[in-house]
This record gives sequence, C-alpha cells and structure tokens, in this order.
Amino acid sequence: MNKLTLLLGGAAVAVGLSYKLFWPLHSEQMDDMPMAQDSAMADASHAMVQIEMPQITGNARIGQQIFETTCAACHGTAGTGNAQAGPPLIHKIYEPSHHGDEAFQRAAAMGVRAHHWRFGNMPPQEGLTRGDVAMVVDYIRTIQRANGIH
Ligand code: HEC
Repeated sequence: MNKLTLLLGGAAVAVGLSYKLFWPLHSEQMDDMPMAQDSAMADASHAMVQIEMPQITGNARIGQQIFETTCAACHGTAGTGNAQAGPPLIHKIYEPSHHGDEAFQRAAAMGVRAHHWRFGNMPPQEGLTRGDVAMVVDYIRTIQRANGIH
C-alpha cells in the first residue's frame, strides 16, 4: 500500500463516517427548523389559534388589505387573535349562525361592549363603508370555511 492509497482510503472512511454521523443529525435539524420558526412567529404575533390559510381572491383580497391594516392589531393576522389585545375571529363563536355578517357591520360601526372575552370593549372603527366591511367579512368567512367553521 503506497501513501496515496492510504490517504485516499483514509479520506473515504472519513467521508463515510461523517456522512453516517452528521447526515442524520443534519436532516433532523432541518425537520425541526420550520417548527421552531413557526412557534417563534406565533409567539411574536401572540396568535391564539392555528389556521390553514386558503387562497384569497376577488373581494376577499381587498377585505384582506382592510382587515390587516385596520383590525389585525387586535384580532391578529388573518383573524388568529392577539392574546394581548383581542379575540380570534377564526373561532366557532363567530360562525355565521352565531355572529352573522350584520354583527361585523355593527362591530365596525358602533364598536362592541366586552361580553365574550376579557379584552375590554372594541372601539368603533372610523372611516369604513359598509362595502369595506362586507369585503372584510368575505375575507374572514373564507378563512373560517377553510377551517371547518360554517
Ligand atoms: C382596539 C382593538 C380592536 C380593533 C382594532 C378591532 N376589534 Fe373587533 N373586537 C375587539 C374585542 C376586544 C372584541 C371582543 C369583545 C367581547 O366580546 O368581549 C371584538 C369583537 C369583534 C366582533 C364580535 C362582535 C360581537 O357581536 O360579539 C367582531 C365581528 C369584530 N370584533 C370585528 C372587527 C373588525 C371587522 C375590525 C376591523 C374593522 C375590528 N373588529 C377591529 C377589539 C378590536
């Protein structure tokens, strides 16, 4: 055996070993990472529920923009709640048969007196037309349906 074969053999063993030793570890880390990131994101946003996010199209898409600028500070991104400010709207309490579309119109126009939660009252939201709120409702209902809330 000359020096070169020895060197190559050693390198092959080293590669084999590191593959065995580090590859599975590496793939585990990869598996763990998205979960760690998700929970970090959930923590940062104080979300209260986990949802499946459907495709948002048409009027619901305009509603999304209105919701995310006007309502999400309290109700969380995509209505997932904000543990420090307001309840999730992607929640059985807010299914259409319990809180119809008119409840959203009333909430936006006149505010809401605290009754289901301990976040305090919701103040009226200025500067929104009924049409704006209807598109917000479209957005919220789309996400509700995708998450089994009918
Ligand atoms: C400043 C915080 C805040 C903002 C901004 C806000 N909400 Fe709310 N909202 C709340 C809180 C808190 C409640 C829960 C009151 C309770 O039932 O205890 C609530 C309740 C509701 C309800 C339930 C009404 C009912 O009849 O029980 C709807 C619908 C709603 N909000 C829609 C909206 C929409 C749409 C927007 C944006 C246009 C919005 N909210 C913006 C805090 C907020």
